[in-house]
Amino acid sequence: MNEQDMTTHPALAKWVQKMIDLCCPDRVHWCDGSQQEWDQITEMMVASGTFIRLNPEKRPNSFLARSTPSDVARVEDRTFICTKRKDQAGPTNNWAEAGEMREKMVGRFQGCMRGRTMYVIPFCMGPMDSTLAKIGVQVTDSPYVVVNLRIMTKMGKEVFNRLEDEKSGSAPRKRHGHGFFIPCAHTVGSPLEPGQKDAAWPCNEDKYICHFPETREVWSYGSGYGGNALLGKKCLALRIASNIAREHNWMAEHMLILGLHSPEGEKTYISAAFPSACGKTNLAMIVPPKPYADAGWKTTIVGDDIAWLWPHEDGRLHAINPENGYFGVAPGTSYKTNPIAMESMKANCIFTNVALTDDGDVWWEGLTEEKPMHLIDWQGRDWTPASATPAAHPNARFTAPASQCPTIDPDWQNPEGVPISAIVFGGRRPSTMPLVFQAFNWSHGVYLGATMGSETTAAAIGLKKQVRRDPMAMLPFTGYNMGDYFGHWLSMRRQIRVLPRFFPRELVPSG
Ligand code: SPV
Ligand code: MN
Repeated sequence: MNEQDMTTHPALAKWVQKMIDLCCPDRVHWCDGSQQEWDQITEMMVASGTFIRLNPEKRPNSFLARSTPSDVARVEDRTFICTKRKDQAGPTNNWAEAGEMREKMVGRFQGCMRGRTMYVIPFCMGPMDSTLAKIGVQVTDSPYVVVNLRIMTKMGKEVFNRLEDEKSGSAPRKRHGHGFFIPCAHTVGSPLEPGQKDAAWPCNEDKYICHFPETREVWSYGSGYGGNALLGKKCLALRIASNIAREHNWMAEHMLILGLHSPEGEKTYISAAFPSACGKTNLAMIVPPKPYADAGWKTTIVGDDIAWLWPHEDGRLHAINPENGYFGVAPGTSYKTNPIAMESMKANCIFTNVALTDDGDVWWEGLTEEKPMHLIDWQGRDWTPASATPAAHPNARFTAPASQCPTIDPDWQNPEGVPISAIVFGGRRPSTMPLVFQAFNWSHGVYLGATMGSETTAAAIGLKKQVRRDPMAMLPFTGYNMGDYFGHWLSMRRQIRVLPRFFPRELVPSG
């Protein structure tokens, strides 16, 4: 679509023009989020070798991408909170002085999209009519990001329309001013010379994932993978949102939201914070064992990774899931461990760094009891059960639309959210047995959540295998001083009349 036709929002038009002038793309594409656009971009990616179309009979409208081996997960040591003062970022974040980092980013972004298309992606985190919903606009030179964001967020023309309605003041959502959006600048950092052949997964060894909470901006350079590149997820919905939440009396948390439905029709919602790749998706999709299911117990999922919680007028803590899809860990997922996830990824999905079967479907460790006799592994090499390395990368992911989940909660898009009765804190501790118990009260629950420990996983690059403290599973995602974050948690108690109970996990030696 023609860019002049796409927006009459002055701040958006101005920012995009600024990014075009800085990044010098060959072309600009304003994303409308249509099926036609998805078809056109996925076909182009198949032609360019970034995507392999999976067997349409086994996995319709689904694709496999293989990343560069150095670009397979979040990069915590290259993730920065950029503020005026160091104490705003606190002791657990990498801090950079905002002005200095902005200058550095402008330098890196100079001409970074030469030879490429700049995609302008409007997206909304949260139900469009929720007072908490946040609009972001990501500019990126990665078509992989475009198609992933179409699954993970509400993306496209209706979001542009929403921004423009707000500009004229006609929309009901006025909490943060009309037409407010969070600019998210992203590049893989790999411009093309005229005639230069592109890589299947362009990226740069130099990486920066930068957050500017004071001006509500994200700048991400050099990576095309997951939370480094899909900026609505960790960058906006956790690091920037945690700053907004602190100022506006709500909470942005690394939590799943699960509904439990009794045979009598009573609904109870639970949120749970576990670190990355520690089972949030599996717990969110858990189904009652047969005797309970037969007795009429049911579970539903509202979200599997991020929860935005606020004190509702009814006195309870309510939660929405700002996401629209699941970016789940593939290895270990099977019809035995998580049939609901398997059903959710039957079609219209993107698989990244999993193995390819000889009949054009996907495979990963744990999917089947018996290993296939032959595969193409996540690096494009022949693989057999005798191979020394895993067929799928341990942080291989599926991107699946939430709407395809058979146990999706009927209220998952309710702008009022769902009321939370219990908060669980947990982690990965293979040498100990978790024993869930109930905290005495809110402050005790906050203390136990704040002192949580968990073994590191493949979801972040370069971490030593060890148990580390990961307060509320938010160590890599709190966009400000962790001390202030604990203070914010403690102070939220005063705003909630009907308090949820806390269920942290005590650890006892196994065996
Ligand atoms: C996590 O690491 O917690 C994820 C995956 O949810 S990513 O989006 O890559 O951060
Ligand atoms: Mn996560």
